[in-house]
Amino acid sequence: MELMEKLSQSKAYIESRLEGRKPQIGIILGSGLGDMADAIEDAVIIDYHDIPHFPVSTVPGHKGRLVIGGLEGKTVLCMQGRFHYYEGYSMEEVVYPIRTMKMLGINALLLTNAAGCVNTAWKPGDLMLITDHIKLIADNPLRGRNPDDLGERFFDMTQVYDKELVAIAEKAAGELSISVRKGVYMLFTGPSFETAAEVRFARIAGADAVGMSTVPEAIAASHMRMKTMGISCLTNMAAGILDQPLNHEEVLETGERVKKTFSALVRGVVASWPENKL
Ligand code: HPA
Repeated sequence: MELMEKLSQSKAYIESRLEGRKPQIGIILGSGLGDMADAIEDAVIIDYHDIPHFPVSTVPGHKGRLVIGGLEGKTVLCMQGRFHYYEGYSMEEVVYPIRTMKMLGINALLLTNAAGCVNTAWKPGDLMLITDHIKLIADNPLRGRNPDDLGERFFDMTQVYDKELVAIAEKAAGELSISVRKGVYMLFTGPSFETAAEVRFARIAGADAVGMSTVPEAIAASHMRMKTMGISCLTNMAAGILDQPLNHEEVLETGERVKKTFSALVRGVVASWPENKL
């Protein structure tokens, strides 16, 4: 079946469950940050496995459902659990939900993730507004025949993460007395964490954080001209910075520790998301 036909069926199913709600902002909640969805009012919850053609999430800590409802005066569609390349999905599968969002009329996207902190002046628990990214790996969600109905074959990536939204997020953070960093996120495929040499390389290349998600989604969103913003929760110092091994528990623990602040920031960003970026 053609991509557009699949997307139409996914959209039709989701719309049939929405009881007239018109989601405006898509939000993807990263590792350990899924509780944020509990704040959504008057929520409709849709399991991924009920949506025709949707992939299904396999990672512990990722729930695998859409939560759609009100948040800070906007209607949001929240993905509780995302699809990662390292799980074995193709990049095209990873970005399928973003395309579904666009089909549902969503033009604004807030991507969140847990990431390793590469910038040695920062510390675990810091929140970083993503200003740009580096995708070193060769694969790309737009590889193959271009879905012309969604966007152009060759498309601009000079401002993937909307500058104005970054400024708005900074202001929202300031008003909430939440300190935020701004920096560059570098994608590694995972599921292995990086080596110490890879982290040194990432730093020299200009990265402030390393992670295993977000970039494919941001590329697909750019292709469809969605207004995108990204926030990383820096859950651990990246490999080799401290004299200790990395583990997934630390990622989850830090996520747990900062989830209140993180949720407050997400809410602040949603509240101040301007009409002209919806
Ligand atoms: N590396 C890659 N992905 C991550 C990390 C990390 O150190 N921490 C959380 N996600």
